Amino acid sequence: MDDRSKGRLTKDGIRIYEAEDFAGMHRAGELAAHILDEIAPMVVPGATTGAINEAINRMVDEAGATSATIGYKGYQHASCISVNHVVCHGIPGDKRLKDGDILNVDVTVVVDGWYGDTSRMYVAGKLSRKAERLIQVTHDALFKGIEAVKPGNTFGDIGHAIQTFVESQRMSVVRDFCGHGLGRVFHAPPNVLHYGRPGTGAVLEPGMFFTIEPMVNIGRPETKVLADEWTAVTRDKSLSAQFEHSVGVTETGAEIFTLSPAGKFHPTWG
Ligand code: MF3
Ligand code: CO
Ligand code: CO
Repeated sequence: MDDRSKGRLTKDGIRIYEAEDFAGMHRAGELAAHILDEIAPMVVPGATTGAINEAINRMVDEAGATSATIGYKGYQHASCISVNHVVCHGIPGDKRLKDGDILNVDVTVVVDGWYGDTSRMYVAGKLSRKAERLIQVTHDALFKGIEAVKPGNTFGDIGHAIQTFVESQRMSVVRDFCGHGLGRVFHAPPNVLHYGRPGTGAVLEPGMFFTIEPMVNIGRPETKVLADEWTAVTRDKSLSAQFEHSVGVTETGAEIFTLSPAGKFHPTWG
């Protein structure tokens, strides 16, 4: 069954899924979140991001699921691992983590055709005060966005909630990457911007599935992509953080598909 066979599209081209589809998204989201729980003990000084990625790849396999990122536009890994000033799409490799490094690990799995996409922050060794504040603001920004998810609100309301909070903390929201619709496909309409004006953009309806995945920089918001054509970094080399959940709109608010089964979504928890 492909994506076109389920539900209907809004005038903005956003798919409205059916009540029974939430269960499929929960299964995919839970596996992605569980994998992120399991790697937490591996994030230590001296570990390579390649070894963490290998563990992720193995867990996806052992679950009988598939990685959405392997083969996606030529990407070859089961995760993106973005260290320090890397904003997103960091490629796992041989580089060893150092004490105090902060990193985002982003995993997308496919379970019975449903996509679960989530990322969170980790620290190798001791978390500095500066990085801890960035991580807390980014985490809270994601939840400000999720709180704005309810029928009748707009995507602009989500972006506005995130942007006003981040800027009130004197940090900046990355504009060059955004969240996205997902479901039976990895990336679908709409683009979920993490900045915006209230009341603008498409109106939220029950049955919409999408990610919210704000990237926040301590310094300026501008990014550039390195010669490997994937790794996005802050232009001013300032630290960057990101958290991502996949959510569905219900009659009253949001259901989060990618909650941590172990309650370990944040590096200072669990
Ligand atoms: N998981 C990322 C997202 O949140 C996309 C990664 S695409 C890859 O949308 F090819 F870089 F893996
Ligand atoms: Co995503
Ligand atoms: Co992701």
